[in-house]
Amino acid sequence: MNQENQLQNQRPIIDKEVSWDKTQVIMSKTNAFGIIEYANEVFIDVCGYEDYELMGQPHNIIRHPDMPKVIFKVLWENLKNGKNFHAIVKNLAKSGRYYWVITDFDIAKDEDGVIVNYFGRRQSVPQEVISLHIEPLYKKLLQIEAASGVEFSEKYLIGFLEEKKRSYVEYIKELIFEHEKAQAKFAQYEEEDGEEEERGFFKRLFNR
Ligand SMILES: Cc1cc2nc3c(=O)[nH]c(=O)nc-3n(C[C@H](O)[C@H](O)[C@H](O)COP(=O)(O)O)c2cc1C
Repeated sequence: MNQENQLQNQRPIIDKEVSWDKTQVIMSKTNAFGIIEYANEVFIDVCGYEDYELMGQPHNIIRHPDMPKVIFKVLWENLKNGKNFHAIVKNLAKSGRYYWVITDFDIAKDEDGVIVNYFGRRQSVPQEVISLHIEPLYKKLLQIEAASGVEFSEKYLIGFLEEKKRSYVEYIKELIFEHEKAQAKFAQYEEEDGEEEERGFFKRLFNR
């Protein structure tokens, strides 16, 4: 067990959400191995660590034990292949409280095409999406991991998504999109007739 995991295990887990300004974007930059090199003020405010406690640390410093391993496995498979990935993640603040986010990444490569940095941007996720869909799914994945390992939580996730005829990213996009539509938050949805190309959806979500 590495030092960060030990620290993580020593932290109290408090089943309460961090109170934060959910209009803000939480941003961090890492090297190719996920070691934190920069975090914006929102990141610092939400997770409760000081800059000096984060820089040089692996990003799993804010990993929440309720997160199934398989989600990070798929995330890293995409990032290492130079592909953006949108994951819904429960993070652990220094206080022991949690905060849910959806991710968006930029990947910087050197002139030889070797990945040198990742830029992670995170937005809040509607509570209803979490409690109705993501929490039950992640709970199952976590239970499967505890019983039979990540190999089988991955198989379950594949089966779950096959049944829905969606990739993971398509699935979470649809959950958020449907929620927003139901809330009639954005008038243009009606004009779009529910159709929005995936890239366009996440660009709008992250104001890009
Ligand atoms: C740019 C970037 C941002 C990341 N952001 C998070 C994050 O917000 N929360 C998190 O738990 N893991 C994040 N990760 C993934 C971690 O590196 C790590 O894989 C994860 O916390 C699981 O820990 P483990 O790989 O030690 O099991 C990020 C990785 C990168 C490259």
